[in-house]
Amino acid sequence: MKLMCGNANKPLARLIADYLDAPLSDVEIERFADGELFVRIDENMRGEDVYIIQPTSSPANDHLMELLICMDALARASARRITAVIPYFGYARQDRKTGGRTPITARLVANLLAEAGANRVLTIDLHAGQIQGFFDIPADNLFASPVIDQDIRRHYDVGDVLIVSPDVGGVVRARSLADRLGADIAIVDKRRPRAGASEVMNIIGEVEGCSCIIFDDIIDSGGTLCNAAAALKEQGAKNVSAYITHGVLSGEAVERVSNSMLRELVVTDSIDVTDRAGAAPNIRVLSVAPLLGEAIRRIANDESVSKLFD
Ligand code: R5P
Repeated sequence: MKLMCGNANKPLARLIADYLDAPLSDVEIERFADGELFVRIDENMRGEDVYIIQPTSSPANDHLMELLICMDALARASARRITAVIPYFGYARQDRKTGGRTPITARLVANLLAEAGANRVLTIDLHAGQIQGFFDIPADNLFASPVIDQDIRRHYDVGDVLIVSPDVGGVVRARSLADRLGADIAIVDKRRPRAGASEVMNIIGEVEGCSCIIFDDIIDSGGTLCNAAAALKEQGAKNVSAYITHGVLSGEAVERVSNSMLRELVVTDSIDVTDRAGAAPNIRVLSVAPLLGEAIRRIANDESVSKLFD
């Protein structure tokens, strides 16, 4: 087995390599003066089972292109099997036509990955599980919920916890975490008056006196999360925290979270955490490296990956 990574999240790649007790292969990624990328892999890859770790986080287009070019280099170097390990799958929110003359970019990215040489994809908490169907190659979608479940048990009194989905689209995800914990759920009825803005319309469920934990796949601008936290507090929640798999945290999101009602926001390291987010008093990072490392080990040994979630 060979492990390698692009520039998107080297700390996570190193943790995965530590878990697997395997080195990261040497890759040189350079830029021409005009910004074009050039990749050179500095060791033999012929016949190898290669795992390339690269979330397609911001800047999404650069990181995606790095991944595609690395895979092209691997395919031309006769790697036996290439697995694109994409802890955060960018463009996943564009999974359907939202109007006339609009693209389905998640499908386009799936095609690009396969065309560049990926034989398999491994990711975590895809925005919509059905994106797996956009691939004609195997695509394993891991769930961060077992890691989050353990962390909640370590830091909260589970008997007091209510899991909250910040929108109707996240109910299945929230219910699966709540079932693991034996907790109830509430749902925030969110409306998007325009792209990038969110409004809370109603809260479905009894939140008064509860320790509310909002569970979502992505925090981007932070609007969905901070509005939901304020609405829950207004309805009498004792305190509000959040677990969100992918900390996109763009624009003023970190400041918004720091100044919000949130007792704590926990994100995973599927996306490399910026210094600003790392320094925020109420943001904590939980690693998914052991989960990804174990999934890679199982794939390499032809063992069940779904057993990880039994
Ligand atoms: C939307 O369906 C996602 O699950 C997230 O709730 C959304 O992407 C969060 O975006 P923002 O932080 O910009 O409100």
